[in-house]
Amino acid sequence: MYELLKQDGRAKRGIFHTVHGDIQTPVFMNVGTVAAIKGAVSTEDLEQIKTQVELSNTYHLHVRPGDKLIKELGGLHKFMVWDKPILTDSGGFQVFSLAGLRKIKEEGVYFHSHIDGAKIFMGPEESMQIQSNLASTIAMAFDECAPALADRGYVEASVARTTRWLARCKAEMTRLNGLEDTINKNQMLFGINQGAIYPDIRVDHAKRISELDLDGYAVGGLAVGETHEEMYDILDQTVPYLPLEKPTYLMGVGTPANILEAVDRGVDFFDCVYPTRNGRHGHLYTNQGKINLFNKKYEKDMRPIEEGCQCPTCRRYSRAYVRHLLKAKEMLGMRLCVLHNLYFYNTMMEEIRDAIDAGSYKSYKEEKLYGMNQINR
Ligand code: GUN
Ligand code: ZN
Repeated sequence: MYELLKQDGRAKRGIFHTVHGDIQTPVFMNVGTVAAIKGAVSTEDLEQIKTQVELSNTYHLHVRPGDKLIKELGGLHKFMVWDKPILTDSGGFQVFSLAGLRKIKEEGVYFHSHIDGAKIFMGPEESMQIQSNLASTIAMAFDECAPALADRGYVEASVARTTRWLARCKAEMTRLNGLEDTINKNQMLFGINQGAIYPDIRVDHAKRISELDLDGYAVGGLAVGETHEEMYDILDQTVPYLPLEKPTYLMGVGTPANILEAVDRGVDFFDCVYPTRNGRHGHLYTNQGKINLFNKKYEKDMRPIEEGCQCPTCRRYSRAYVRHLLKAKEMLGMRLCVLHNLYFYNTMMEEIRDAIDAGSYKSYKEEKLYGMNQINR
């Protein structure tokens, strides 16, 4: 249940109540695709870097180790020893971006596993069944994320099918939540808005899915090749047609600047691989901009990654040491970088919430964006 606490312009500040505890929004979900945050990050670590929600993936966990196994072991929370909220993406997007040779039909998608090439079928019912077995807090609807360059005719047909799939997801989720041996009988379902960069298709779809009274609504199919301005434009036009009294989730986005702009347009949930992926490559977020620790100028730099940062890395270690670890390909190097980056994102979300609470979101956003541009100025 979403409680809207305050609005500052279009920015929303809320609390999402779940059976696994409250989520303060706006929130950045930390990505653990295969039930692990890449970079050897543990549950103990997540507890120290302000992580509220972990995100995993239906498709990956279905392929390995198998959702039935995870159900047998008591569900994903018990399996990965994480008792706070977990959101699972439906597999739709991953099937389209990862799996080989797929065929899209009305019933679902036929494709090959990216692990062993095995034939797999996934439709709305299969995706809901897998997510129910995983017993995540929030399940995502099974959708098609049409290619950014798809023509209008293709997008119209695809969105119409995604709408029909959503009705099937809702019916199946209701059925599964009512079964005796379902682990999380309160599993929630978020619908996903699609429509590429056609505002009228987006708006029409937003209106349709809003009628279904789901637990939340995502905007999908963005950050897939369009410009940042096109993405902001789609948000400007679409978010007002999603329910204000439900959370809005912008899938797979993005840079700190993208998040600051999207919050200003009414988004409250985010996820992205940038902080983990960039961390593993020595690219670190700071309030002055992004730095590359492989740069020789950090060789003798005994300062922390960011002066004043309270993350587990910056409290003890220097740029020079972490740089050495990365160059020596020591796992600790990646780990320390990922911890700093996730802490940076999670802390920025905390600042965003405080700024909305204080009614000063616009000025906070401008200052933060200005600061993060220093390195490039
Ligand atoms: N992750 C990023 N974009 C999308 C999308 O459009 N659909 C789904 N299911 N996941 C996503
Ligand atoms: Zn730090």
